[in-house]
Amino acid sequence: MRTQVCIIGAGPSGLLLGQLLHLAGIETIIIERKTKDYVLGRIRAGVLETGMCNLLRKVGLGTRMDAEGFVHDGTLIAAADRMFRVDFKERVNQTVMVYGQTEVTRDLYTARETAGAPIIYDADGVTLHDVTTDAPYVTYIKDGTEHRVTCDYIAGCDGFHGASRPTIPSSVRKEFEKVYPFGWLGVLSETPPVNHELIYANHARGFALCSMRNQALSRYYVQVPLSDKVENWTDQMFWDELRRRIPQDAADTLVTGDSIEKSIAPLRSFISEPMRWGRLFLVGDAAHIVPPTGAKGLNLAASDVHYLSEGLIALYHGDGDEGIERYSQKALARVWKASRFSWWMTSLLHKFPDQGDFGQRIQEAEIDYLESSLVAQTSLAENYVGLPY
Ligand code: APR
Ligand code: PHB
Repeated sequence: MRTQVCIIGAGPSGLLLGQLLHLAGIETIIIERKTKDYVLGRIRAGVLETGMCNLLRKVGLGTRMDAEGFVHDGTLIAAADRMFRVDFKERVNQTVMVYGQTEVTRDLYTARETAGAPIIYDADGVTLHDVTTDAPYVTYIKDGTEHRVTCDYIAGCDGFHGASRPTIPSSVRKEFEKVYPFGWLGVLSETPPVNHELIYANHARGFALCSMRNQALSRYYVQVPLSDKVENWTDQMFWDELRRRIPQDAADTLVTGDSIEKSIAPLRSFISEPMRWGRLFLVGDAAHIVPPTGAKGLNLAASDVHYLSEGLIALYHGDGDEGIERYSQKALARVWKASRFSWWMTSLLHKFPDQGDFGQRIQEAEIDYLESSLVAQTSLAENYVGLPY
């Protein structure tokens, strides 16, 4: 098979890139290791920055999002049994959209299938070849047969555990990582959200987050030790711990129910440089991971896709190669700033094993400062809604 851009991975990065390139008349093939149902089965955050929303509208996927998504003008920060609101609209005249990532991915699949553009599922042994030549190609095995896709460029949209990043020699790659000494125990429940906005809570027992997917589907998290196991937690134990960590009036109004999904996710910050090697471009989680505290994972994938699609479209439309030449530099500049914000939010709101009483009081003082300073709230707001592309 032959195509112009071979995309590895059919998650949000690969699907959004594929749609933008397809609409610009650029041929793509997406090669995915799993099945469509498996990909859609992932439970992921759904706080969309304006940039992501605009990209989805650009590829014609704004209708359902604008109809079913929830515009949030602000968020709630809680600590030491008090809670205050950071008003995004007032501070930076922007908002975020709460719309489940599964829905984003579903919409992107629908668009790709409607366009009749190819996605190859259940592809094993995906291997990238000759990426530093002008004739790169990708091989994979399906139904016991090896297949080959020759292309002009390869977009590695295959996530943290994919085949793309390791294709860049370790002598070329520089990786930066911070593993946090805790995880998030998350519960999805068919209950009304405790508040119409998100609550990020700092507590001496550990962080808690109250979020939602819609008015009848809530998503809650409590910080747990890395050694913890999901089987150690009954639903009742989870609800009791969540109530301890959120302000009393929220705890009093919390509607609990059976968990329909319960899991523990570790937190890490990870960035691999460069995001380009020859004719291979890394996109999204293939190049970087952020702790979910700032809800940046999906949104950083969106800005990578924006930069790369703009560069490839300019190239194929005869407008030069500056966009792809500067892709890695431009993408990494925004990735590092979003990583800093995610690290800062994580450091502010979580209980660190070695922080002691002094550390807890310093966190509470910083939250107290945040509550009292519109300048500080403006800084949080402009980072949370998303820095410019
Ligand atoms: N070959 C083919 N496909 C692969 C391979 C491989 N070797 N390895 C992984 N994949 C597929 C995965 O099955 C997955 O569908 O690549 C896709 C990667 O998707 P994500 O991990 O979701 O990464 P990305 O698309 O960059 O999404 C970025 O969105 O998933 C959310 O918040 C999450 O930060 C993440 C963001
Ligand atoms: C979620 O709803 O899963 C969610 C929301 C905001 C975050 C992280 C996760 O910062």
